[in-house]
Amino acid sequence: MLVFETIKKLQQHLSSASTERNIGFVPTMGALHDGHLSLIEKAKTENDLVVVSIFVNPTQFNNADDLINYPKTIDADLQHLENIDCDVVFTPSPKEMYGDNSVAEKFDFNGLENQMEGAFRTGHFDGVGTIVKRLFEVVKPTNAYFGEKDFQQLQIIRKLVEKFNIPVHIHGCDIFREDDGLAMSSRNVRLTGLERKETPLIYSVLKTVKAKFNTTQISEINDWVVKEFDKSSVLNLEYFQIANESNLIETIHRNSGEKYRAFIAINVGEVRLIDNIAL
Ligand code: PAJ
Repeated sequence: MLVFETIKKLQQHLSSASTERNIGFVPTMGALHDGHLSLIEKAKTENDLVVVSIFVNPTQFNNADDLINYPKTIDADLQHLENIDCDVVFTPSPKEMYGDNSVAEKFDFNGLENQMEGAFRTGHFDGVGTIVKRLFEVVKPTNAYFGEKDFQQLQIIRKLVEKFNIPVHIHGCDIFREDDGLAMSSRNVRLTGLERKETPLIYSVLKTVKAKFNTTQISEINDWVVKEFDKSSVLNLEYFQIANESNLIETIHRNSGEKYRAFIAINVGEVRLIDNIAL
């Protein structure tokens, strides 16, 4: 496994190693868990060479404390990647990616950026769009892999690629969960024991929403979800909504032929968790 910190060295290696070979790319912010590794495993089966980036992107953090407290476990990350036979790891510094001032570009993702995470995390998707576009320019992957865990991000990346005509295939990957249903996330390690104990409620509520979806009014489902979280003194509901998968606009009526998902964001102490389920 080769680790590169600079764009120049990475590109030198890729241009010599990748003639007529497929490059699979998995961008991450590190603190790797089995969810990340499942994306990398998928990339490995579909490409000749797999590149993983580890970069805690400052411009997508709307909250300075969240950036400071974001777990950083580079040694363990490199060990995991070595164990699963990753080919290339790119670990740039902020200066390497942004020069002297880390500023995000502004994007119009046809309104996708204004829903849910965009509404609650101002500027977040400008930061994501800026870094992913830059990483695509640097790595020039054939295929890139993103988790449905961040479904809104996945749809925004698809829009980014379409708008800028970037020649890469985007692959959405299933959400990887702990045995009790909690979606794996780098932020989970920051939960206290008591907080962690209550978090399976998130996925169990989503599963019940899925079971109710065809027979219950959406407004009734929304009220039920609010009541379920009112019962918990630890999990605070930030938003719950059922939205159309393609435009992410909240819906209160089902139309046949459309695909819907339920999306949720929860604050637990200092930590913010998101999850979703296809309905
Ligand atoms: P990060 O949160 O590190 O996630 C990297 C990739 O792993 C994302 O595509 C995310 O959706 C996926 N992922 C995280 N948890 C997952 C889970 N439990 N199951 C399946 N996939 C999961 O998302 C980012 O980083 C950043 O925004 C990034 C795209 C790297 C840009 O900075």
